[in-house]
Amino acid sequence: MPAPPLIQVHPLDPAAARAELLRGLRGEPPAIPPKYFYDALGARLFAAITELPEYTPTRTEAAIMAARLPEIARALDAQGCTLIDLGAGNCEKAARLFAALRPAQYVALDISVDYLAQSLDCLQRQYLELPMLGVGIDFTRALDLPPQVPAARRLFFYPGSSIGNFTPVAALAFLRALRAAAGDDGALLIGVDLVKDRAVLDAAYDDALGVTAAFNLNVLNHVNALVGADFDVRDWRHVAFYNEAQQRIEMHLEARRDVNVRLPGGALPFAAGRRIHTENSYKYTVPQFAQLMADAGFAVAQAFTDDRDTFALFAARAV
Ligand code: AVI
Repeated sequence: MPAPPLIQVHPLDPAAARAELLRGLRGEPPAIPPKYFYDALGARLFAAITELPEYTPTRTEAAIMAARLPEIARALDAQGCTLIDLGAGNCEKAARLFAALRPAQYVALDISVDYLAQSLDCLQRQYLELPMLGVGIDFTRALDLPPQVPAARRLFFYPGSSIGNFTPVAALAFLRALRAAAGDDGALLIGVDLVKDRAVLDAAYDDALGVTAAFNLNVLNHVNALVGADFDVRDWRHVAFYNEAQQRIEMHLEARRDVNVRLPGGALPFAAGRRIHTENSYKYTVPQFAQLMADAGFAVAQAFTDDRDTFALFAARAV
């Protein structure tokens, strides 16, 4: 079996990344978009987060999938679909669906095909009969799927509650873009972290080992590499808390002392205590998210939750 074809739709654009970061850092309040967490070390730190006792969404989602797979497949009625994996990474989660969903084709999307090549190659050796394709695309910018992706019977898979990292307004816009790309016979399987006890949420984003703190601080090293800044992680503190009114975790980096950061276009001063906003992670109730799906043009066939209602997998069809 030859290695799966790879298509890079959106070329990686370092100048655009630099401009976006400088705009954010000089904004009010200063901000760094969360997609910049994921350099090589950031991706490993995130993988470590998913193993922490305090951070349960990834494990809970996997347990729901393992326990309810036949029902999920029935709810989606997607046999023979083109399974489109959003943010595939190592393609592990989607592979768990193959036996039950029996897709006709598997399409893995990630920001860069370089991240997909090895895992897709490895997966193809295990599933010799399943045609696979890797697409390098920033689908949060535009869902420009190449013509090689069949238009009929598309099933989008968006696990891990990554939808929580959009504002609700942006989440609705993204779900609408998915609905448009799904066509009238398409479907969506999406994982969503649910509103839960504040102490549980606070601990999930400020763990005892300090892995989430390292993940948050590491974004400064990535910014240094991308824009030529001189952030020193020792000058900054990880701050994370649940904002109940907004139903979201907020992550920030707070200056421990007065710091002056070298940036292209001139130094940027941060007084002690000033924060850079690095991430929001919105939490939903099942009815709230079902409404968002309905507003986007999807009918929820079934919401699968764990027995403590901490996480939900929504199986939905285009209407
Ligand atoms: C990727 N995303 C769904 C994670 C979340 O829970 O919002 C990112 C994360 N940030 C800190 N811990 C995990």
